[in-house]
Amino acid sequence: MSRLPILIASCLFLSSLTAAVVTAAESDTPTAYSLLQSYNFPVGILPKGVVAYDLDTTTGKFHAYFNDSCSFNLVGSYQLNYKSTISGYISENKLKKLTGVKVKVLFLWLNIVEVIRNGDEMEFSVGITSANFAIQEFLESPQCGCGFECKDSKLDMIERIPFLSSS
Ligand SMILES: *[C@@H]1O[C@H](CO)[C@@H](O)[C@H](O)[C@H]1NC(C)=O
Repeated sequence: MSRLPILIASCLFLSSLTAAVVTAAESDTPTAYSLLQSYNFPVGILPKGVVAYDLDTTTGKFHAYFNDSCSFNLVGSYQLNYKSTISGYISENKLKKLTGVKVKVLFLWLNIVEVIRNGDEMEFSVGITSANFAIQEFLESPQCGCGFECKDSKLDMIERIPFLSSS
């Protein structure tokens, strides 16, 4: 008999062992939020509740996982929706090819495909148009449901430039 099945079984066992080790060491690995900051992004573009993520540091390809999808209002006007899995490519000041993040503009749900940090502004692009928001709006992660306006939030409402005004 071939030894291949045993070899495969050992590999599977080893890889599950590795996965367990990674989980156990999770407190030492950076959180998705501190990782965002290392790419010069504010934590507030990612809602609270990320349970896991993976990142290929050579390409910047990432996935982030929530227990559930997540909806809230962006500074009182636009509704945002994050799927339970989001993905994209991250590099300094730039998130591209995003999937799983939508914004409701008027009556349409549009995918946010790119987020760029430009100095003190965050630019969210839905392909056909983009909108800029002050970075101060994203200093804290929003919570699913009440978003940035949860009662313990210390964020001040500040001036913003709405979607569609820039087209
Ligand atoms: C996600 O689900 C697991 C299992 O149900 C639970 O233990 C954990 O607290 C949840 N995490 C969040 C952030 O909701």
